[in-house]
Amino acid sequence: MKLKMENTINNLGSTYTLFQNECNDALKGLINKLFLNKNYRVFNILNKLRKNYPNVSIENNELALESFYNSYMKNGYIKYVGNTGYKMFNPFNNILEEIDKNEAGTVPINNNEIVTKNNNFTNPNVNNLYDLNYNNYKQMITSKKTVVWCSNDYLCLSNDKRVIDVGIETLKKIGNSSGGTRNISGSLLNHTQLEYILAKWYNKESALLFTSGYIANLGALETLGKLLNLIYVSDEMNHASMINGMRESRCMKYIFKHNDMKDLERILKTIRTDNELKNRKVMIVFESVYSMTGNTSNIPQIIKLAKKYNTLTYIDEVHAVGLYGNKGSGYVEELKLCNQIDVINGTLSKAIGSLGGFICANKYFIDVIRSYSSHFIFTTSLTPVNINTAAEAIHIIQNDINLRLKFQNVVKKTKQKLTEMGIEIINNRTHIVVALINCADKCKKICDELKHDYDIYIQPINYPTVPR
Ligand SMILES: Cc1ncc(COP(=O)(O)O)c(C=O)c1O
Repeated sequence: MKLKMENTINNLGSTYTLFQNECNDALKGLINKLFLNKNYRVFNILNKLRKNYPNVSIENNELALESFYNSYMKNGYIKYVGNTGYKMFNPFNNILEEIDKNEAGTVPINNNEIVTKNNNFTNPNVNNLYDLNYNNYKQMITSKKTVVWCSNDYLCLSNDKRVIDVGIETLKKIGNSSGGTRNISGSLLNHTQLEYILAKWYNKESALLFTSGYIANLGALETLGKLLNLIYVSDEMNHASMINGMRESRCMKYIFKHNDMKDLERILKTIRTDNELKNRKVMIVFESVYSMTGNTSNIPQIIKLAKKYNTLTYIDEVHAVGLYGNKGSGYVEELKLCNQIDVINGTLSKAIGSLGGFICANKYFIDVIRSYSSHFIFTTSLTPVNINTAAEAIHIIQNDINLRLKFQNVVKKTKQKLTEMGIEIINNRTHIVVALINCADKCKKICDELKHDYDIYIQPINYPTVPR
């Protein structure tokens, strides 16, 4: 048995050996088990691709990431858009030109169909069809301006001129698609740079991008759960993406009452005094800012309990990313506790104003997740515009504390005004303003009226998104 394992490892190249040498014993044991069970196909394939796809840990300086980072911190991302990406070559333009020259205007599309060059826009039926749609469309548009009161684009960075400039430059220089999954052809240097930026932002060794915050939770929790045979201990108010990630791992799960440290400790004690469970790896899963109430979790106390009962910690910072802390990375940074949390999850889709999600953790966690998570491997990577605009937005957030202060001021004034007008709001210290109506019909009616009479769009949130 031992010989077989060594043979397997020897065949797998440097990343695996590095992993074996440096990884902690428990994780190493579990990975070995995977190898023995012949579940190593993904590692094997990735090792062959590693030359073009370096491990994005902050200590890896293969791609001059450190000097890139220093310059980015000073000047923003625009100068890196063109230099580091690559212009996608579009072979179809040339092929079509050739056909134009050689075949006097006819292009075979498939066996049944011949389209004559230039005739599709002069065809009167096609024009009518377009006109009809356009008129319908025009009727749906009004010239009224509506203010959206429930947007997650917290800092309006999706409309910032500097971000838009980076987006336009990216489209011109790279195009609109990443061109594939991360392991096949969808890994641009821009992805790597953004992962480096995120790792630095959260003071972690490494980071990994996913196509959304939702998918990042699914991928990380499913994979870590399976690999480490975890027991999850989860806050009852956790987001659906975390619940589904834990569910997909098929691991054992305990739920503690929302933010209730006594209940959390009761569960941890039960696990650690149970003969069968006491040596298992446990992970506490929670959010920093809960978007339905706006309250924050008791992070210092959770960390204390995690140390006392020897557990891992996983936090979802989705609603705090970009808004709290000295560098604006989130609530954990504000508390100066990034180093004390094992895995931090976040989104590029809210305060950063783009699309995508990520996790930050130590390089071993990141390496196994990117090697084993189907939510990371089998999907097209984020587009160049998504990632480059996110990099620019993060630069703005890090360098412009006034943007955050201005936002928090608006929140404070809104809460003040609502209270003055006798509207009951939940008392919290975050940017989430929760006005309790306590009746679904009334809540819908108020929202309709706001839209109709004041051009304010706000979405009522009812059961089951929140408790009845
Ligand atoms: C707590 C929490 N986690 C994760 C997500 C998913 O993030 P994304 O919109 O990037 O998929 C959300 C979305 O609203 C959320 O509220």
